[in-house]
Amino acid sequence: MAAPLSPDDIAALESLVDWWDGAGVEALPPLPEETATPRPAQRERPVSRDRQAPPTATPAAARAAGFGAAPAQDGRKIAAEAADLTALRAALESFDGCPLKATATQLVFARGNPEARVMVVGEAPGKDEDAQGAPFVGKAGQLLDRMLGAIGLDETSAYITNVVFWRPPGNRKPTDAEIEACRPFVERHIELVKPEVLVMAGGISTQTLLRTSSGIMSTRGRWMEYALPDGTKIPALPMYHPAFLLRRPQEKAKSWADLLSLKARLGG
Ligand code: URA
Repeated sequence: MAAPLSPDDIAALESLVDWWDGAGVEALPPLPEETATPRPAQRERPVSRDRQAPPTATPAAARAAGFGAAPAQDGRKIAAEAADLTALRAALESFDGCPLKATATQLVFARGNPEARVMVVGEAPGKDEDAQGAPFVGKAGQLLDRMLGAIGLDETSAYITNVVFWRPPGNRKPTDAEIEACRPFVERHIELVKPEVLVMAGGISTQTLLRTSSGIMSTRGRWMEYALPDGTKIPALPMYHPAFLLRRPQEKAKSWADLLSLKARLGG
């Protein structure tokens, strides 16, 4: 006879059922093979993530908030000097090198357990994250939680952050300059957490951390390596961004396969 399910098993199953329920499917339909070069309409479209009109952080707004007045800060030096996560967060709080700070409500640093084996890095905070000061707390975040829950992970067993620490106005896609301004901090963030496994949620996160120009349609589900400054290689898995899955729930089958791959990597 099969062993009885533990409360954790039941919670994971409920989370999984809930997740599929949200996809509006009762069974997995066969999916057509991905094309190597997807049509533009199939691509993840990070621009205007909640479909609001995309206002911009104008140079005037940035100047009004004091940006550009002081000499440029050396983000890499500042980040490198942060000895722990508390110091890194404080360093970001006083860092003026990313113009998004001028238009955001607050810094969005991380949530979850920094001792966890899994670190998830998304793109940038949205409206809800900006209001609450925590990453992935809006609709996409709720889906992310259900996805992680489906393989038995939660805030005690995963640590979640973004490559950009302030909300781009109107949830537009962060610019290269904004990403580069934040890069030293996200890289130091990963170095300090030193997770066993890194999950990159979406194309921007994958392209930034792996310094690749390949799109998420071709990288998702393929295990890569993220190298720390000391040479340590961390297994890194690109996955579809949950916001993309909200728009295209039929793609959830692929993410489910990726989640199972993540679970297997963690040892079942
Ligand atoms: N999307 C992200 O990439 N990060 C968040 O924190 C929220 C939505």
